Amino acid sequence: MSDSFFIRGGSRLKGTIEVSGSKNSSLPIMASCLMASGRTVLKGVPRLSDTDSMVQLLAQLGCDVKRLEPKTAAGNIILNGPLEVEVMSEQQCWAPYDIVTTMRASICVLGPLLAKRGRARVAMPGGCSIGDRPIDLHLRGLAKLGVQFHIESGDVIGEVRGRMKGARMYLGGAQGPTVLGTINVMCAAALAEGETVLVGAACEPEVVDCAELLIKMGARIRGHGTPEIRIDGVDKLAACEHKIIPDRIEAGTFIIAAAITNGELELRNCELDHLISVVDLLESVGVHCERDGLTARVSTTRRLNPVEMTTQPYPGFPTDLQAQLLALLCLADGNSVVTERIFPDRFLHVGELNRMGARVRKEGATAIIQGVKDLQGATVMASDLRASAGLVLAALVAKGQTQIRRIYHIDRGYEKIEAKLNAVGATIERGPEKNM
Ligand code: EPZ
Repeated sequence: MSDSFFIRGGSRLKGTIEVSGSKNSSLPIMASCLMASGRTVLKGVPRLSDTDSMVQLLAQLGCDVKRLEPKTAAGNIILNGPLEVEVMSEQQCWAPYDIVTTMRASICVLGPLLAKRGRARVAMPGGCSIGDRPIDLHLRGLAKLGVQFHIESGDVIGEVRGRMKGARMYLGGAQGPTVLGTINVMCAAALAEGETVLVGAACEPEVVDCAELLIKMGARIRGHGTPEIRIDGVDKLAACEHKIIPDRIEAGTFIIAAAITNGELELRNCELDHLISVVDLLESVGVHCERDGLTARVSTTRRLNPVEMTTQPYPGFPTDLQAQLLALLCLADGNSVVTERIFPDRFLHVGELNRMGARVRKEGATAIIQGVKDLQGATVMASDLRASAGLVLAALVAKGQTQIRRIYHIDRGYEKIEAKLNAVGATIERGPEKNM
């Protein structure tokens, strides 16, 4: 029996929300600490089940990981205080299946382990509800630096004889660049001998944030954020202090929450530069975002215009906001078309939205959304992290009560989401699932 959200729809969201640090930047950055000597201090790591899984994995790999809990003047514990990571032993090099299946991003320990310890054994991620999660580009890139790989009972085992050697390589695949693949190879190249050039590298802000951390540790990296990253290998990396960038996907989710409830939200710790394609597209839907430094103010015209959107690698519209946008477009005044270029099967939210009265039809990697006047509350099932965020948005505006089952999915990537949304007018309760 797992927990559900019980959401009463109909209230317009108004007020201020603090955006947390980026999950997708925290996970590879925590893994990169495996390469440094000394105690690295990471600020802004959100408290999520995914970051908790990474803490457990690092502990299994010989690290001492501590979440500091400073107190406010009034003596209350600050929950997402700094995270400290220090490598105490380099004996263990295995990321086992039970951890990797709960969190596919465990694959980002592969590059750091190979670079620093010369060997690694990581369970193959396998598939998940958004589709197959291959790692062929990771392995191809690392092999170009001199790693020998073989597969044994579902694990990928890598070994390096001596030190990795830098190389010039193309890292892209059929669906474009790979975010964690770029980070894995960039980490390994940071301690390789000589120069490595990654052509077709991912440009996501999370790649840039990880490169900035490595540079603080002593790495020599240029071009991060562009499709061509140059790394001059160094002999060692030392601990540093780093603040994680804001979570652009959480911020984008809250922007759409304001839009779908025709509300007005102020988002703090929100870097709109990381959402330029999202802000641009939402402008044509009728959602206005104004920025004042790291504060964004969101307002909406009452009428939502239909649009066409195709998910792209950064800086294009991110696949991680596709489900949330699709929920919004269910209420647009006309027909919209959404095409998923990164994970073509990432539409498990469509069936659940249709249970709430939406009219969405899937044609392969494209969904046609016929706008309806309103949605009705229903019992629906979360299937993956971002699909469940899309269902929360739909429930905020649906008439009556919605029960969203299996909300452990949402706890993977949104820090205290019901507290943040209830503080600006939502009515969300968490409790054991019920037959409604
Ligand atoms: C990262 O996953 C994110 N996860 C994902 O967010 C995000 O959806 C994805 O990037 C795309 O932006 C983290 O950062 C922890 P990819 P990643 O390698 O790096 C294909 C969320 O909800 N591919 O960029 O694993 C792949 O199948 C998660 O927070 C290969 O073919 O994704 C996909 O079609 C979900 N071979 C495309 O590339 C490979 O070796 C992009 O995948 C690797 C990837």
